[in-house]
Amino acid sequence: MGAEQWLRFVARVAVLGAGVGIASLAGCALNQNLAGPVRIAPSPPAADARPDANLAKQGKKLFDRTPKYASPYVGNQLSCGNCHIDSGKAGYAAPMIGVAALFPLFSQRAGRQITLQDRIDECFVRSEAGRPLPPESSQMQALVAYIQSLSMNRDHGRPYAKRGLVKLPALKGNPDRGRIVYRQCALCHGSDGAGMPPVIPPLWGQGSFNDGAGMNQPAKMAAYVYTNMPQGSPGALTAQQAYDVAAFIHQQPRPKFNPVYARF
Ligand code: HEC
Ligand code: HEC
Repeated sequence: MGAEQWLRFVARVAVLGAGVGIASLAGCALNQNLAGPVRIAPSPPAADARPDANLAKQGKKLFDRTPKYASPYVGNQLSCGNCHIDSGKAGYAAPMIGVAALFPLFSQRAGRQITLQDRIDECFVRSEAGRPLPPESSQMQALVAYIQSLSMNRDHGRPYAKRGLVKLPALKGNPDRGRIVYRQCALCHGSDGAGMPPVIPPLWGQGSFNDGAGMNQPAKMAAYVYTNMPQGSPGALTAQQAYDVAAFIHQQPRPKFNPVYARF
């Protein structure tokens, strides 16, 4: 094994250890939460109805390990939690906090009012390169329950301050400079972009999101990377470097969006 390969191996093993530790810690915290005393908000609005705790727990598992628990509907190796960091609780990583109460809302992409279920399916057919969940499926009910459980005790209809992604100035990425920035990403995501699922998600190739995904828009990926990557030292890149690396990743091959699902 060459020196560079060895370094990459060591880095990935370190991440693996940390990833497993964090995952089990987060699991504990959530279990305690769910098992704890039920706090009843004064006359909660319908969208804030307290979800079934067991269903929400299943939803969290599915969120963290989507290819394992929703395999018929997933076409790649990404879990929801690979993008929606910390099981959907990290600000500016498109968190699920407070999201349930915002739906139904108007979607520019779909050109119509969409429900939370539609929005989940949008990520299934694009970010998961898969197929929509049947509305009555146990998987859909579990995910909705989990997302509702992260929306409790929030002001109805008022978005979480760190909803979505951070606002960056509109810059133009340079893929050649991005190739150089990518060297620091390759330690984890691999020089082939394939990562090491389920711990390190793929950035391109068959295991990654398709070309209809929000993450495939360079401005969105730049905003995501700017606040969340490199994992362990987020904030290390300038906005320009984030656009450059997004432009480089945008040039790489990935699955095609299936137009049959254009309604999402
Ligand atoms: C490849 C990355 C990726 C994966 C995987 C992914 N998503 Fe998303 N998701 C996004 C992005 C990007 C957005 C849009 C953020 C924005 O534009 O503000 C988003 C938005 C959402 C929203 C709307 C959030 C809001 O504030 O309106 C929901 C709900 C959602 N995703 C659920 C899921 C679920 C459930 C899964 C797993 C089945 C999933 N996503 C998998 C990237 C991903
Ligand atoms: C220390 C390891 C590490 C490094 C370095 C790193 N990442 Fe990540 N990346 C991860 C992990 C792990 C995740 C999954 C989310 C999480 O758990 O934080 C992730 C998630 C992502 C995602 C969303 C999921 C996906 O597959 O699309 C993108 C985009 C991303 N990283 C881009 C980058 C870019 C660009 C760089 C370099 C600037 C980088 N990462 C550096 C470990 C790393």
